[in-house]
Amino acid sequence: ATGRLLDRLGRPLTDLRISVTDRCNFRCSYCMPKDVFDKDYQYLPHSALLSFEEMTRLARLFAAHGVRKIRLTGGEPLLRKNIEALIGQLSEIRTPGGEPLALTLTTNGSLLRRKAAALAAAGLQRVTVSLDSLDDAVFRHMNDVDFPVADVLAGIEAALAAGLGPLKVNMVVKRGTNEQEILPMARYFRDHHGGKVVLRFIEYMDVGATNGWRMDEVLPSAEVIARIGAEFPLVPLEPSAPGETAQRWAYADGGGEIGVISSVTQAFCHDCSRARLSTEGKLYLCLFASAGHDLRPLLRGTATDEDIGSAIGHIWQGRADRYSELRALRGPESGEHDANDPAPRRVEMSYIGG
Ligand code: GTP
Ligand code: 5AD
Ligand code: SF4
Ligand code: SF4
Repeated sequence: ATGRLLDRLGRPLTDLRISVTDRCNFRCSYCMPKDVFDKDYQYLPHSALLSFEEMTRLARLFAAHGVRKIRLTGGEPLLRKNIEALIGQLSEIRTPGGEPLALTLTTNGSLLRRKAAALAAAGLQRVTVSLDSLDDAVFRHMNDVDFPVADVLAGIEAALAAGLGPLKVNMVVKRGTNEQEILPMARYFRDHHGGKVVLRFIEYMDVGATNGWRMDEVLPSAEVIARIGAEFPLVPLEPSAPGETAQRWAYADGGGEIGVISSVTQAFCHDCSRARLSTEGKLYLCLFASAGHDLRPLLRGTATDEDIGSAIGHIWQGRADRYSELRALRGPESGEHDANDPAPRRVEMSYIGG
């Protein structure tokens, strides 16, 4: 099945995001608020998790359907035991044209200092590190487990030293919480890394059903660009790939580039080419979906590679999801979650990996 697979809106399948654990050692309130993800929270049992062999088998079938890039996510992916072994297996996969896949991972950076060298040795090419503040007090408050920012910064240095750059740093911006960190973050990553770090500002999204999202806590990307541009003039860059999440901007003085991810104020569904595989083997066609297509029974039954490949093809061909665009059409406030809403609960970010 090497033909170009398109969904109902004509979008190809080029990216696969694999969530390797639903657990995390942070409790960012926009993702895993402490009062919900407490000691009684039911995480996936071990028997439900796909094995590395099962993930790799699926990844190979996705590559045959046109996937060129795999991003490992979580929860926190570096909490999955021996993740290096999975990376090793995924790095052996070849596209129909004989190319290796682009292999990357989105992490909170807490274990990166310890793991960067081993990840690179296993075949990981790049990492994206989430970091919401340089101010230690603000950072400890946002991760809500009192984790110090210095350890994440050391993780970023270790990743660069291990050759996992150029790397991206993701900052989720919440109005009233860390907006004062926009400029310090911009200054820090401009000055310290000579173009090796691309800082991206993410609009706080109405994902999941537990984070209590409100439109008035979203700081529109246009405002982020205006604030940075007032200190460092910026010029827009062309997208480097279709379907990209971030809009790119360059510092006019040659100080590198930044990005903004504006899924609330400027939805980018029209060329969304990402599929998401949950830790237990459910395939989700949108970050905001409430249900996935369970592939695990196929993996653990008698289905052949051909059967599973054709199931994946049919699922993608039936896809018409474009949640962010539809929310924008209804008015942005419509993302606010209504406890009396009878609609099925959307999947949590920590379950599907963003
Ligand atoms: P690159 O491919 O390196 O640009 O990474 P990415 O932006 O695709 O992934 P990353 O894990 O860094 O996610 C950045 C932000 O974009 C996170 O807040 C994600 O939840 C969000 N994001 C990623 N893909 C999508 C998507 O398809 N739709 C929406 N609405 N948000 C997304
Ligand atoms: N809105 C925007 N981004 C989010 N992330 C987690 N929750 C949200 C949210 N509600 C980000 C993380 C990470 C990426 C995978 O998604 O910070 O960088
Ligand atoms: Fe963990 Fe990332 Fe969610 Fe924060 S955003 S709780 S680091 S998975
Ligand atoms: Fe893709 Fe859904 Fe995000 Fe739109 S909201 S870009 S369809 S994942």
